[in-house]
Amino acid sequence: MDYSRIEVRPVAGALGAEIAGVDLTRPLDDHAFAEVHRALLDHLVIFFRDQTLTPEQHKDFARRFGALDVHPYAKGLPDHPEIIPVTKEADDRGGNFGGTWHSDVTFYEKPALGSVLYALEVPPYGGDTLFANQYLAYEALSDGLKQTLDGLTALHNAARSYGAGGRAAQRQAQGSKSMAIDIREDSEQTVEHPVVRTHPETGRKALFVNHVFTRRFKGWTEEESQPLLDFLYKHAVRPEFTCRFRWKPGSVAFWDNRCTQHYALNDYHGFARRMHRVTICGDRPV
Ligand code: SIN
Repeated sequence: MDYSRIEVRPVAGALGAEIAGVDLTRPLDDHAFAEVHRALLDHLVIFFRDQTLTPEQHKDFARRFGALDVHPYAKGLPDHPEIIPVTKEADDRGGNFGGTWHSDVTFYEKPALGSVLYALEVPPYGGDTLFANQYLAYEALSDGLKQTLDGLTALHNAARSYGAGGRAAQRQAQGSKSMAIDIREDSEQTVEHPVVRTHPETGRKALFVNHVFTRRFKGWTEEESQPLLDFLYKHAVRPEFTCRFRWKPGSVAFWDNRCTQHYALNDYHGFARRMHRVTICGDRPV
């Protein structure tokens, strides 16, 4: 693909590209916006370096792509509820937010289009984020399994993350004060999504189940669902479907949540990591 206003440098064979020539503090004109949008659709996750964003500028950039979400469980900044401070403090020895392969908020009827994560403070080493291409994950399956999955629906909810006994509750029990997360029973509410979704903009099919929010297949018990789900979770993140991003202060990652999963590595104990995340509302998977 030709780009005239931005430079696009792929970082891996599967997905991911660094974008140069864009200052996210200024409103993008329509041409630059169209190229950034195309780069997102082509590369699934795009990275920007050396940005210095105020919360307003961060939100303004994300808002070009759609309305902004306010997370129901993770508390936003006092004056900017749409911005989740994704933080792990230096003295926090427990787990981290996003430290398992997942797509964001698939417990919504309309899961996110994408998220824009901005690094304020990063550890001297570690704390990378991994991304996995879910088009490739689907395409690499046998025709037989594709046919089976094409007809399946999965149930998703937020209980493993935000319910009593879930990951956030466990972090709080370990004494973590890094993030303000509400633990609530409504995390048990379940929504249905196709196991294979068609991307609304590219028309490509992507695998759409994840270890954090998917619970079982519709019409199947949890016990029946688990072996096939376990296979899919492992398959979905095969190394050849992934890329890995090394953060610096001022780096920005923007992922298309409709066709990727991501994983925030928790390998920097003793150091702080502070990010701001804005999430863009998406549509109902079909
Ligand atoms: C997330 O899952 O949104 C967090 C990603 C990260 O901190 O790298």
